[in-house]
Amino acid sequence: MSNVALALLVVAAAAGVALSLPPASLAVTSTYVRPKPRATLSLLVHDADGQTPQQVHISAVGSDKMRVSWITDDDAPATVEYGRTSGQYPFSATGNTITYSYFLYHSGKIHDAVIGPLEPSTTYYYRCSNNTSREFSFRTPPASLPVKFVVVGDLGQTGWTKSTLQHIAAADYDMLLLPGDLSYADFYQPRWDSYGRLVEPLASARPWMVTEGNHEVEKIVPLLHPQPFKAYNARWRMPYDAGASPSGSNLYYSFDVAGGAVHVIMLGSYTGYAVGTAQHRWLQRDLAAIDRGKTAFVVALVHAPWYNSNRAHQREGDAMRAAMEALLYGARVDAVFAGHVHAYERFSRVYGGREDPCGPLHVTIGDGGNREGLAERYTDPQPATSAFREASFGHGRLEVVNATHARWTWRRNDDDEAVVADQLWITSLASNPACSNE
Ligand SMILES: *[C@@H]1O[C@H](CO)[C@@H](O)[C@H](O)[C@H]1NC(C)=O
Ligand SMILES: *[C@@H]1O[C@H](CO)[C@@H](O)[C@H](O)[C@H]1NC(C)=O
Ligand SMILES: *[C@@H]1O[C@H](CO)[C@@H](O)[C@H](O)[C@H]1NC(C)=O
Ligand SMILES: [Fe+2]
Repeated sequence: MSNVALALLVVAAAAGVALSLPPASLAVTSTYVRPKPRATLSLLVHDADGQTPQQVHISAVGSDKMRVSWITDDDAPATVEYGRTSGQYPFSATGNTITYSYFLYHSGKIHDAVIGPLEPSTTYYYRCSNNTSREFSFRTPPASLPVKFVVVGDLGQTGWTKSTLQHIAAADYDMLLLPGDLSYADFYQPRWDSYGRLVEPLASARPWMVTEGNHEVEKIVPLLHPQPFKAYNARWRMPYDAGASPSGSNLYYSFDVAGGAVHVIMLGSYTGYAVGTAQHRWLQRDLAAIDRGKTAFVVALVHAPWYNSNRAHQREGDAMRAAMEALLYGARVDAVFAGHVHAYERFSRVYGGREDPCGPLHVTIGDGGNREGLAERYTDPQPATSAFREASFGHGRLEVVNATHARWTWRRNDDDEAVVADQLWITSLASNPACSNE
């Protein structure tokens, strides 16, 4: 396919999405008048030397290791040197380097190396590809509660993304969870690189754990580009082969945080999820292995919401919900975070379409700031299960303070200030005798 044809396709795809967005706001629960959309940032050009590490991000592997991922334009060693004092790197690990091609685009050298064992709640300094010009640092998550998560979906790379990232950086956290739709590259591969550069200041400093959205698929038509998730899998490798229940697929996996007090399940909305599929069988195994005597909170992330009263993407999560909701309910999963819909919505505890005190809290947090804009039209009347809904950009925070209590807050990007617009305490279903499985 020619560049022109590719460009047309990209334009057509973008226009198609933009046109599907409804024009006016009918939101009934919030009277906030949001500011205008902001343009996509221009980060396509960079001046890095060929061996300079760029797009550095980290992800947790097991309880005491970290995967460092980065890219160099030219060949460079897949080596991470690290230590607990700035400028001193007594330890090192060497991992792997891969590349991929997508039509005429050829990626840089994509490196990753797993480092550890690491101490919990400890700052490590590191450098990549033996390069002396850039030192990074991160802090490992704690070994026990409390633990603080940021949850943000559909991030993209616009002026609003920048605002969201600034708000995320302004308050401390241990780990970021992203329920899909990262770069909005939409087939134009250099946008994956610019996204990597945009998020690097945050993603090199705290583990970013992600799962895929529809914008990660990048499969055009079967004959033109049949292999889905090519860029996503190459650039955002997650710990699917680590932990108690390895999944074998980068498109869904799980991990423990805070010494197993929190179990996080990353589901894949864009790979098989029906009964009998590999993902469904893995989810059953994963849930069966959880010991709720030790694991206070279980949360799941998914891209297309299973509960949604926004007119955008209505019912897109229904088939997956039909296949998997009973499994999550049976395991007393505490909360399900979704993206996809570019707005915020919090439901009450629900199961089977109805309020249920033993069902998970469902939250749509697809409002990170991408270029498709907000989804402003809601179904009317607001369903009884929908507790709060608002079409604004922002991010969420889940602070698990102890074995029974977690605090959820949603911070809207009020112009350039992060304002808490919704919050509640969540109590662990494992600590609720009325929801006991015995
Ligand atoms: C990179 O650093 C590692 C660890 O310090 C060292 O073993 C290796 O020889 C270095 N490689 C190059 C190419 O300098
Ligand atoms: C590291 O980065 C600097 C600055 O971009 C560059 O000049 C140098 O060649 C790179 N390589 C090493 C081994 O430091
Ligand atoms: C857990 O945290 C909640 C909220 O701060 C508090 O009310 C409760 O007493 C705490 N439980 C324990 C056992 O400390
Ligand atoms: Fe999406």
